[in-house]
Amino acid sequence: METISEERPVTATAAEGVGSGLWASEQLVLCRDDEVGLRAVIAIDDTTLGPGLGGVRFKPYPTGEAAVAEARRLAWAMTRKNAVAGLPYGGGKSVIVDDGRASDRGALMRRFGEFVARLGGSYLPGVDMGTSVGDLHAMGEAGAEVSCATDDPSPWTATGVWAAMRAAVEHVEGRSDLSGTRVLIQGAGHVGAALAQHVADDGGTVLIADVDAERATAIAARLGGEVVAPEALLDVDCDVFAPCAVARVIGPETVDRLRCRIVAGAANDTLTTASVAGLLAARGITYVPDYVANAGGVVQIHALRSGWDETRLRSEVLAIGGRVSRIMADAEASDVTPLVAAERQAEARITAARAARRA
Ligand code: NAI
Repeated sequence: METISEERPVTATAAEGVGSGLWASEQLVLCRDDEVGLRAVIAIDDTTLGPGLGGVRFKPYPTGEAAVAEARRLAWAMTRKNAVAGLPYGGGKSVIVDDGRASDRGALMRRFGEFVARLGGSYLPGVDMGTSVGDLHAMGEAGAEVSCATDDPSPWTATGVWAAMRAAVEHVEGRSDLSGTRVLIQGAGHVGAALAQHVADDGGTVLIADVDAERATAIAARLGGEVVAPEALLDVDCDVFAPCAVARVIGPETVDRLRCRIVAGAANDTLTTASVAGLLAARGITYVPDYVANAGGVVQIHALRSGWDETRLRSEVLAIGGRVSRIMADAEASDVTPLVAAERQAEARITAARAARRA
């Protein structure tokens, strides 16, 4: 079973191979302004398919290097997410370091917007952890082109994860809905709550865990589901495990504890390293790559930019299910993990676009 090298998220494409870590991103920008207290990183992973679309994170980081590493890793995943979703965008991501230096948020976001504007449209910022539509407007006032994001893409993200989950269940169990399926959702937040509703409506049983016990209890009561203690989560019997809370929930030390047949959720960076996909496959657990399942939010951004109505948006988000089916079929046919199959699809699209451009 082929797996992806550990270093891939900070290296170049499959065709170029591993080892070009420092130069992996197409463009990497560090921004500083002492007057407003700005320290930020903009990572543009690849713009072959279009401007690097990806959110702006605003949160504390232990070091500047950690901020750079996160921006680059997330930009890398955005390239794959947008490519597999068939969208006309490349991958980008930025982080503004929340280190207490800035006292005027509006001034901070406007100054950051000036740095984004200097890139001439090759980075298209959206809302991410710690930022809002108001922040994007501030960036726009400073001349940056911003994606027309909404504060809450979660309902569309949840719809996409549900479609992905259904496709995986169909592939593994041969059932076309979730009836009789026990779905364990980690995180009863924006995505988790909406996903739980889809699962229940589709005939599945919801098991839900949240560090905020009240949130989990309210959803379980409403949908007739079960609450699971967050610390016991990995040891619970279920058909599908849907991580919808935090990053890096599945690593080499936790794979053996999992008691599910499928992992399909919204959380970015679900696996601690790419090679964990191989460990899951060896245990007979089907992993739906996170960036394939959670693309509903970027599809919604594209819908807003393109003027699609809700019917078109819904059908494009549900198309995530078809993409998962094709990835599963490719993976099986070539004896690779679904993560490798997804990455190959992304690379194929990018390579074809490069070739078309040269022709
Ligand atoms: P949220 O902040 O609304 O909800 C997260 C929930 O997880 C909260 O209720 C929190 O109490 C809970 N939680 C935190 N740590 C936990 C733990 N260790 N165990 C159990 N529960 C825990 O976040 P949201 O928007 O629902 O996003 C969920 C995940 O999906 C995040 O990882 C996010 O990056 C990812 N994602 C979200 C998208 C969206 O449209 N909101 C789009 C793509 C990815």
